[in-house]
Parts: sequence; structure tokens; C-alpha cells
Amino acid sequence: MTEDIEQILFTPKQIAGRVAELGGQITRDYAGHPPLLVGTLKGSFLFLADLARAVGLPATFDFVSVSSYGCGTCSSGAVLLRKDLDEPPEGKDILVVEDIVDSGRTLSYLAGKLKEGGAASVRVCTFLDKPARRAVPFAADYVGFTVPDAFVVGYGMDYNERYRNLPFVGVLSSRVYAPAETV
Ligand code: PRP
Repeated sequence: MTEDIEQILFTPKQIAGRVAELGGQITRDYAGHPPLLVGTLKGSFLFLADLARAVGLPATFDFVSVSSYGCGTCSSGAVLLRKDLDEPPEGKDILVVEDIVDSGRTLSYLAGKLKEGGAASVRVCTFLDKPARRAVPFAADYVGFTVPDAFVVGYGMDYNERYRNLPFVGVLSSRVYAPAETV
């Protein structure tokens, strides 16, 4: 699996350090009003698991599944809600935990829907931000790392459902998703 990675962007140690910082910041910001952490399946599962243990508050948890459809390495603009919250967002301080903001369409849609549903507040914590790919204006409240416009996998992020369990974030070799044509 690692032979398909052409560059490691963030090591497990760098990830752990940054997640601890984010957890501390969130703990301070939400003191006295612990948030409902909403993980976006599937990509955020490792980030949420680590962040949850770095937040020193009696937070609660739920999950949504929101998919942006595209060609595998790009997003088309269509957003589909596959799984909604178990309970309505009304009156809750919601912190959406996301693996990556790319075009911004997924989070723009999800944040809008939660606000329309009457959430008391909606903030977004994304592990990675890829501002070069933004198609709609969107700014996350907490960002782990800003990344260049490269195809990143690992620490929850996939290509065709693979590579999610890599403990680091790396750039996928283009020979995996755009193999040279054979004659
Ligand atoms: C990825 C990622 C974000 C979204 C970001 O999800 O987890 O939810 O794309 O892209 P955007 O900013 O262009 O909308 P994906 O649909 O690949 O599902 P996954 O989390 O199951 O991998």
C-alpha cells in the first residue's frame, strides 16, 4: 500500500501534535457549553476518534454521511445526504468534524442544513483544508493543516475506498489513479 505513496505530507507524530492543539483550542472555546461533535462518514473516522480524546469536555457524538460525487479524483458538485443525524439539531452547539474541505460544497451544504434545522451554533473543524480547489466560498473555524492541490490519502481519506487506514497523510502516486495507457 505504501508503495503507492509518492510523498508523506504529515507523519503520525505531526498529526498527533496538531490534533492535541486543536483539542485544546476546542476545549477552551466550548467551556461551559460542550458541543455535539458530528463526524462526517466515512473520511473523518480516524480524525474524530483522535480529536474526541483530545477534547476535555462532556461532548456528545453523532454522524452524518454526506457524499460529493465525482470522477474519483474530483468532485462533480452534487451532494447527497445518505445518513442524517439521529436527533434534530435544534438548539444544539454543533461542531462538524471533517477530514478535508476541497470544493467546499459538502460543508457548505451541511452547515446550511444544520443552521436551517435550528442549531444554536454550527462550526466546522476540518483536519485538512485545500483552498486551491474551492468552488464555493467556505471557511472552516478550525483547520488542522492547509494542503496544496494534490491527491491526498491516509488518516481516513481514500481513493476508491483504499488507503484510509494509513497512519500518515500522503500524496497518492498519479500512476495509481491515472495509469499510463498501454498499447
Ligand atoms: C470527501 C470528504 C469531504 C468531501 C470534501 O468525502 O470527506 O466530505 O469529500 O469535498 P468537497 O469540499 O469538494 O465537497 P467523500 O464524498 O469522498 O466521502 P468519504 O468521506 O466517504 O470518503
